[in-house]
Amino acid sequence: MVNHDYSLDFGDKLLAFLRFVFKNQVEFRHNSLGLYAKMSPLWGGEICEDENLHKTITFPSGSLPINLCNPIVLAAGANKNGKNINAYANLGFGGITIGTATRNFRAGNPLRPRVGLDEFNRLIHNSMGLNNDGIEAISLRVEKQIIKARKNNFAVGISIAEAPGEEEGNRMLHLIETFRIAYRTADYVEVNVSCPNTGVCRQDLDTTFMKNTFEDFENFRKTAVHKKAIYAKLSPDLTDKQLLQLLDLLASLGVDGVVLGNTYPSDKLFYHLPVLNSNGSSGGISGRPIYENTFRKTILAKKHFPQLSIVACGGIDHGLKVRDLLDEGADFVQVYSVLAFRWMAAMKMGREILCPSKS
Ligand SMILES: Cc1cc2nc3c(=O)[nH]c(=O)nc-3n(C[C@H](O)[C@H](O)[C@H](O)COP(=O)(O)O)c2cc1C
Repeated sequence: MVNHDYSLDFGDKLLAFLRFVFKNQVEFRHNSLGLYAKMSPLWGGEICEDENLHKTITFPSGSLPINLCNPIVLAAGANKNGKNINAYANLGFGGITIGTATRNFRAGNPLRPRVGLDEFNRLIHNSMGLNNDGIEAISLRVEKQIIKARKNNFAVGISIAEAPGEEEGNRMLHLIETFRIAYRTADYVEVNVSCPNTGVCRQDLDTTFMKNTFEDFENFRKTAVHKKAIYAKLSPDLTDKQLLQLLDLLASLGVDGVVLGNTYPSDKLFYHLPVLNSNGSSGGISGRPIYENTFRKTILAKKHFPQLSIVACGGIDHGLKVRDLLDEGADFVQVYSVLAFRWMAAMKMGREILCPSKS
């Protein structure tokens, strides 16, 4: 595995300056991503139309193919509410996962700060707690924008999750309703069963929950007019044995693929990150330090379950990393944290894929 690196150009240095200026407003910086996307044509952003980067993901299950104008997709969490989706295509992404959406509006973790950043290790840690407008509002927004996105081969998935903290009786019902609403609209549905920030929704470790949930989704899908891809987003801290057992179960239930993975629970890494807020946690880690784990898990999953679509996610910040992961069998990649450290990161990574000798 090579941890391909990049040298800082003027844009990256400008971004570092902005991080410094707004160093106490990390969440504000994250929220300004939408504005950055909207204004991207001003700094050379454009929809990637290079045919050499185009990817069509097909599924043995017969699910509708996913068309991506390039294999770099914006991961869940960056555009939680489905606003201005098509602006993100101008940042050089091939697609986007909206959400994570829950059945109803959630304010997320009430404690502040909820996001921290480690400059030296190029990592982010967060405990946002699934703040979002609720699936109905989000799905309506996606519906209004998805035709235009599809014309540009900019795929739009919706990430969903059970709402933590709800009454026991409602939890499963709400998840199923959330799935059905997302399924009607999105190109693919990504089920987040690995959020480390809410205390009760690390469902990827609960075999009964996983079986019942994905069985229900599959039964619903059998009755739908169009069969669309379903992905499960798993945690990166699963042991190899846990991961393989889980993939076995998911494959047997007809799930099309997995996203490997979510943020890494910070108490399991060696970084001594400051506690974010009075909940005593440092949140989930994303960014460069988790790349090696992403790479290893991608190889492991593809070797044992070649029929599953693998989406690599975690610490990917260079086009040559994307190429390496595609060579190892990933269908596409998802990225998020790199946007805090590289100016127009997706466009740069696209160019690095196309012209490896210049990287
Ligand atoms: C601030 C922040 C919020 C996130 N919110 C979500 C979320 O709502 N749902 C989800 O599935 N993943 C969420 N993630 C995780 C990312 O989608 C991704 O899995 C993780 O950051 C690893 O990728 P990266 O190293 O490229 O950032 C979030 C990550 C960050 C940094």
